[in-house]
Amino acid sequence: MTETATLSHYIDGQWASGKGTLESLNPSDTRDVVARAPNDDGSAINAAVAAAKAAYPAWANASPEVRSDILDRVGTTILARKEQLGRLLSREEGKTLAEGIGEVTRAGRIFKYFGGEALRRTGVTVDSTRPGVEAATYREPLGVFGLITPWNFPIAIPAWKSAPALAFGNTVVMKPASLTPATAVALAEIIHESGAPKGVFNLVIGSGAAGNVLAEHRDVVGVSFTGSQSVGAKVAAAAMSHQARLQLEMGGKNPLVVVDDADLERAVQCALDGAFFATGQRCTASSRIIVTQGINDRFVDALTKRVAALRVGDALGAETQIGPLASASQLETTLSYVDIAAKEGGRRVTGGERLSLEKPGYYVAPTLIVDTHPDMRVNCEEVFGPLASVVRVKDYDEALAVANAGEFGLSAGIVTTSLKYARHFARNVRAGMVMTNLPTAGVDYHVPFGGTRKSSYGPREQGFAAVEFFTLIKTTYSWA
Ligand code: UN1
Repeated sequence: MTETATLSHYIDGQWASGKGTLESLNPSDTRDVVARAPNDDGSAINAAVAAAKAAYPAWANASPEVRSDILDRVGTTILARKEQLGRLLSREEGKTLAEGIGEVTRAGRIFKYFGGEALRRTGVTVDSTRPGVEAATYREPLGVFGLITPWNFPIAIPAWKSAPALAFGNTVVMKPASLTPATAVALAEIIHESGAPKGVFNLVIGSGAAGNVLAEHRDVVGVSFTGSQSVGAKVAAAAMSHQARLQLEMGGKNPLVVVDDADLERAVQCALDGAFFATGQRCTASSRIIVTQGINDRFVDALTKRVAALRVGDALGAETQIGPLASASQLETTLSYVDIAAKEGGRRVTGGERLSLEKPGYYVAPTLIVDTHPDMRVNCEEVFGPLASVVRVKDYDEALAVANAGEFGLSAGIVTTSLKYARHFARNVRAGMVMTNLPTAGVDYHVPFGGTRKSSYGPREQGFAAVEFFTLIKTTYSWA
């Protein structure tokens, strides 16, 4: 599969060429150009917002069954094409084919789930404090939502932002990551085929400048963003300039605590999966592994062997367990943290070097760094690559304190056979999601997703919580 696709914006139900050029490269083989796409400077964003605004009244007032059927069809079609879409995703983003197909399956399920949720936009009635008066709430859609999505989940995150927006009667302009436009366009094609009325869903390809125009557009009522903290701050300022609703998901430095009484095999598997699968490019990655001293040496020995044995290669290769980094800049960032950790006194026990494989790609050997201190940069800053560090601590209390240090608070995990530690950790760790005897990464689509502190801002994404961000509660009083 080496053909280069030519991509277009999708605006008002039409495919539209545009100014500028973006190239999407295969990170497993940078000679392979996956797609060429326009690179919008804002003019296509303006046209897309106008189309979404015009489409809004009819979509908001359509029967929930109309919205439900369309979303369900989108989900069914995504699932029917999961092999082909998974292959495209893995070729464009670099996660393994199993991970790519898994992500596509998740996206399909998300659309089907929100097809159901479209029928459940409920309110409540309450007895008023005044005799004869009835108080009731309704959930109403708000208008045009701007969705700015990242490259690391190029179909699941577009799905989990756009499906609830559409389910509850809003219209959408999406600006996907410039690194993975082909996967986003494949989703737009399916939404088009599934009978969404023109203007209900629009997609504009561009870089950060286009995202900024979207976030600051006066006709955009809400902005949902997933990406880095620095870009998130700009998106927030743009959205706040006109009081748009805001939902930000900005990464993590997720601790995985391993307690002396842990099942060793389980602990190693959680660390391996959480830190290295998807090449560590998940905001939920277990990048800080905090281990109590009684199990530390056995754990580090066993984990080192497993990390060193991971097979790195072409994302589409049948034997590959870890694909490349998604871009040259991700590769550089990862390698720079290998140096930073060494300068800070961390001891690298495996990995850390760029790999030259048969095909030219952004390959790095999965890296484990031990003897690290909680204050080291490698334990405070998000690396977003196949790199994890181990902090050895005295006991559970110190582990919890270390887990709670730092600015992030997305996901946190503990591996233990003790109910006492598991429950205490779940209630006392500062994170939006807590995993017991599971990796910090890997979430379900029908439950809320989000963090605390600098990881997240605004209402939760996904599952039954998604309705909060994408609807307005109106309270009515009546006397008759
Ligand atoms: C997962 O761990 O299953 O960008 C999902 C990210 C997160 C999604 C993680 N928003 O990595």
